[in-house]
Amino acid sequence: MGAPWSRESWQTKSIVQVPSYPDQKALRDVYEKLSKFPPLVFAGEARELKKKLANVCEGNAFLLQGGDCAESFKEHSADNIRDFVKVFLQMAVVLGFAGKSPVVKVGRIAGQFAKPRSSPVEKKDGQELPSYRGDIVNSTEFTSEDRIPDPKRLLEAYRQSAATLNLIRAFATGGFADLERVQQWNLDFVKEAPGAHSYQKLANRLTDALAFMRACGITPENTPQLRETTIYTSHEALLLGYEQALTREDSTSPGEWLATSGHMLWIGDRTRQPDHAHVEFCRGVQNPLGLKCGPTLDESGLLELLDILNPENEPGRMTLICRFGAEKVFDHLPKLVKAVEREGRKVVWSCDPMHGNTISSSSGYKTRPFDRILEEVKAFFEVHRAEGTHAGGIHVEMTGKNVTECTGGAFKVSDEELKDRYHTHCDPRLNADQSLELAFLVAEQMKAEQEARSGNTR
Ligand code: PEP
Ligand code: CO
Repeated sequence: MGAPWSRESWQTKSIVQVPSYPDQKALRDVYEKLSKFPPLVFAGEARELKKKLANVCEGNAFLLQGGDCAESFKEHSADNIRDFVKVFLQMAVVLGFAGKSPVVKVGRIAGQFAKPRSSPVEKKDGQELPSYRGDIVNSTEFTSEDRIPDPKRLLEAYRQSAATLNLIRAFATGGFADLERVQQWNLDFVKEAPGAHSYQKLANRLTDALAFMRACGITPENTPQLRETTIYTSHEALLLGYEQALTREDSTSPGEWLATSGHMLWIGDRTRQPDHAHVEFCRGVQNPLGLKCGPTLDESGLLELLDILNPENEPGRMTLICRFGAEKVFDHLPKLVKAVEREGRKVVWSCDPMHGNTISSSSGYKTRPFDRILEEVKAFFEVHRAEGTHAGGIHVEMTGKNVTECTGGAFKVSDEELKDRYHTHCDPRLNADQSLELAFLVAEQMKAEQEARSGNTR
């Protein structure tokens, strides 16, 4: 890829998944405004995240990435953000303790608004309207007016992202992340969730470790590492006009460009054509990048994308987010892992067990059975154990609220219960208990990886 890159160079390429704005003048005015707004994240932070992801590449850390499928304007509240951060921290503590290594925490948050759709139109009761493309574009309401892409929504998405990020930073450093407190929440879960007593052993060991540290004088009061953390932000880089307006030259490193809309951006499974606009835009920004890898991606396609997006083979730059569907993992993942290993490419392997496991329930709701999610995670770990590579992370759609969107889990959400609290604007998310349960189950897989690495197959 010798051609020069610029913030605008994506505009010369083919593009899919673009909303058609009827008012182009209003759209240009909004881009103009956004291009003068302050950055949401900073180059130093993105560099630090890349370093931490490089550590995941080496097998010495684990990536936890998660959050809403689509953030919503209506559900933007301090309570929702707090509840998400709470369960996210709980998961991170479980994974960090089990993996005996740092957990890199990346939210699908503070910018995860735009949605690619499998069809540009939606039909209901004989009426056909443009599809909902995320709150940053149009509204979920099924009227022709609500479905018209509205440029003002880009400004609201920026405002909400800034407010969310501000609160996340406060939660991460203001005492909320205190390890002893997070562990107490985990103990409550283990005590209250049916079937969760099997996680008691791990939870008790963690309590003992904290008590021992306290006995040695290492406490959250005197040790910032025990009470503070960093939560990074990420979203799909789908609306390139918005991304371009927020892309700035790194003042500390002229000639380098950062998409300041979030720390990490990913390219979706529908927009990863190597000669198209989304890949073109992403290749030129220095942010860590995710690439969704679905069943239609083969070895040569993956290597071609890695050549374009990470020509220097910089560790931490690329996270491959695998989303095949539980029963397809063994057909697709081993050959990708073998190709990447053979070519010596440095990547983080992460498992998205959500997007390949969506089904229609008998009650008519789009859902994801917890067992299938778990099956995909297990298959992912099994492949990496067999290949001797590091199962580096998970990528999940989740919320801190007690919603009923995915079936199963410790509280056994049934098909009939889906209607009770089905709040998602897009895909079904794990609720707080299901998220934490998944973390405990991933912890067991991490233990198996450690045993395989140390040759102990007890
Ligand atoms: C998503 O992560 O919400 C998404 C649309 O995923 P994918 O591109 O893998 O389908
Ligand atoms: Co989704």
